[in-house]
Amino acid sequence: MLVGYAIGGGPERVLADRDRNLSFGEIKVLSQAVDRRTTQEPMAHILGTREFWSLNFKVTSDTLVPRPDSETLIEAVLERFTDSQAPLRILDLGTGSGCLLLALLSEFPFANGFGIDVSDGALSVARENATTLGFATRVKFATGDWRVPGWSEKLDGPYDLVISNPPYISDGAMGQLEDDVVKFEPHNALSGGADGLDAYRLIFSELPGLLKAGGVCAFEIGFDQGESVATFFEDAGFDLIGINTDLGGRDRAVLASNVKPQANK
Ligand SMILES: C[S@@+](CC[C@H](N)C(=O)[O-])C[C@H]1O[C@@H](n2cnc3c(N)ncnc32)[C@H](O)[C@@H]1O
Repeated sequence: MLVGYAIGGGPERVLADRDRNLSFGEIKVLSQAVDRRTTQEPMAHILGTREFWSLNFKVTSDTLVPRPDSETLIEAVLERFTDSQAPLRILDLGTGSGCLLLALLSEFPFANGFGIDVSDGALSVARENATTLGFATRVKFATGDWRVPGWSEKLDGPYDLVISNPPYISDGAMGQLEDDVVKFEPHNALSGGADGLDAYRLIFSELPGLLKAGGVCAFEIGFDQGESVATFFEDAGFDLIGINTDLGGRDRAVLASNVKPQANK
């Protein structure tokens, strides 16, 4: 991958060009990239992009690198909505690179999105991704901070669908993360306080007013947080739709609605 980066065109180009020698310029770029990788800098930061939901997202040190596990949330949302009831207004809390919101806009062609984040650096990457991927006219991004009471008032609710992948790593688990995550990814995209649930508590304090009657919420969770987040939903008056597991079979996304599902006739 690094050779593909150095010569431009990615790994495919390495195979296509395998009989030629690298130029001095390419060797220099490759050697700098290898030096960065040997300090544990994530590949996505060196390459500048990461694929998510078959779309290419720009990533920088201001954004969490989109994780394959987060595709569980997209799949869970797609299972929930049929084409005729697709969401038209989607809110993303803690949008980062914009990967979740923009992936959903690629699936729901009539939907518009709003993403907030506390990090202005992340928001500028999200805006760039929206433009590059062709969604700029269907999405807006703004600074927002769920630690500030009243944070939901300027979000132009209510929405058909509210999604979030908030920081959810507990203090204990933060100490066990790989070096490439701890040293290079933004701390406030990861750390969820003592039990990892601080961001959910703050989000739930104002969530009910953000969702239309019959709307759906989809939140990413840590593998051991399903029960706690399901309880937060129930305490806030939502009906649990279900907990979806990732490819490793671990709980990864909780979905809930703010009305009781119609009984089958
Ligand atoms: C786990 S990352 C998720 C990023 C992206 N949605 C994804 O799935 O890759 C959490 C995001 O929440 C943002 N965030 C952290 N604290 C916040 C706060 N108090 N208010 C709003 N956003 C916050 C971080 O900047 C980060 O972009």
